Amino acid sequence: MTQPPHPSRCASHLLPRGEKDGIDRRALLAAPLAVGTLAGCDRLAVAEPTPPTVPPLKSIAPFPIGTAVMAGHFDDPAWVALARAQVNQLTPEWEMKMEYILQSLDRLTFDAPDRIAAACEREGVRLHGHALIWYSQGEQAFSGFDRTHFGRAFDRYIAEVAGRYRGKLVSWDVVNEPIAEDGNGLRDSHWSRNLGDDGYMIRAFEQAKLADPEAVLFVNDYNLENNPVKGTTFLRTVERLLKAGAPIGGLGTQSHLDIEIPAGQISRFMRDLGSFGLPVHMSELDASLRRERGGDFRSRAQRLEQQRARVVELAEAFMALPERQRFAFTIWGLRDSDSWLRRDNRDDGKDQPLLFDDAGRAKPLTAAVAEVFGRG
Ligand code: XIL
Repeated sequence: MTQPPHPSRCASHLLPRGEKDGIDRRALLAAPLAVGTLAGCDRLAVAEPTPPTVPPLKSIAPFPIGTAVMAGHFDDPAWVALARAQVNQLTPEWEMKMEYILQSLDRLTFDAPDRIAAACEREGVRLHGHALIWYSQGEQAFSGFDRTHFGRAFDRYIAEVAGRYRGKLVSWDVVNEPIAEDGNGLRDSHWSRNLGDDGYMIRAFEQAKLADPEAVLFVNDYNLENNPVKGTTFLRTVERLLKAGAPIGGLGTQSHLDIEIPAGQISRFMRDLGSFGLPVHMSELDASLRRERGGDFRSRAQRLEQQRARVVELAEAFMALPERQRFAFTIWGLRDSDSWLRRDNRDDGKDQPLLFDDAGRAKPLTAAVAEVFGRG
């Protein structure tokens, strides 16, 4: 089980590399500009524009502001200070998932999620549980069961995990990413093959409701704004599950935004999502400046403007929901350097997908979002 690198990792790839300690001091001393790197990686950047003065997001937003957290973040004073200032809800980024907890079916590991839950209680912030059932996890641990024992193990896992955090969290992503990647139908998974396409989802919500009757139970997915076909399939799936009696209490749209989508696409989906009258969690916002498809000739200024326009559209669409439906607005990390996108092997160390820069300073994007939230 590999953990993501410690979130406070500095962008040391900027230093000249040598044999001994990885730093070529001759090259370093020959490059006066680089001397600044001994004091801190962020000083290599060209002169930064003055960070905008932005009031804390949690103090101006008329709904909870969340971010993703890993237990290691609590050992990073800079992260703790920024989180205390800006957010009032946390989502475990990976340590409350099956891949962490379920080391084997007879041994569940709770050290990290317990630490996160305790920190939320100590700090007086809400905890959103993520995620009980996800297509991408648990296949090995659940392999070898016949259908009856598979169902019992499924129920037992949800009862143990959701039961453990009953009263310590406000909500769960009960089913994460059930829609097929291209948006055509549902994902095929070991869950659907053993318990039925809709069956595993209905069962998961029913078991979670039994384990924690007070938690708001979400179904959560991504690319719903980016891909209208997937968005529509998600909405139809929600409608079908609700009709089947699944106790779905909330709808999560991850909003890992493609900043090149047409204007209006986000607003239209958010309006449709809100039509169910359920709480909506904008659950994992990031807006990468990278183009996965390659051949990117946009200037940085063009990409930053596209990012601003789409993130503002998302914030405005969320604000347009009825107050009782605005569950939380969660950014998938605090500082750009905390982003999972910066731990991706395609990353060039320059992506700025989040609301605060590598040093935790506000950006023009932060000010743009704060302006929308401040409209009250
Ligand atoms: C990602 C985390 O950010 C990574 O640290 C982890 O290695 C993989 O999962 N949708 C989700 C999240 O629901 O759980 C994923 O988080 C990102 C996509």
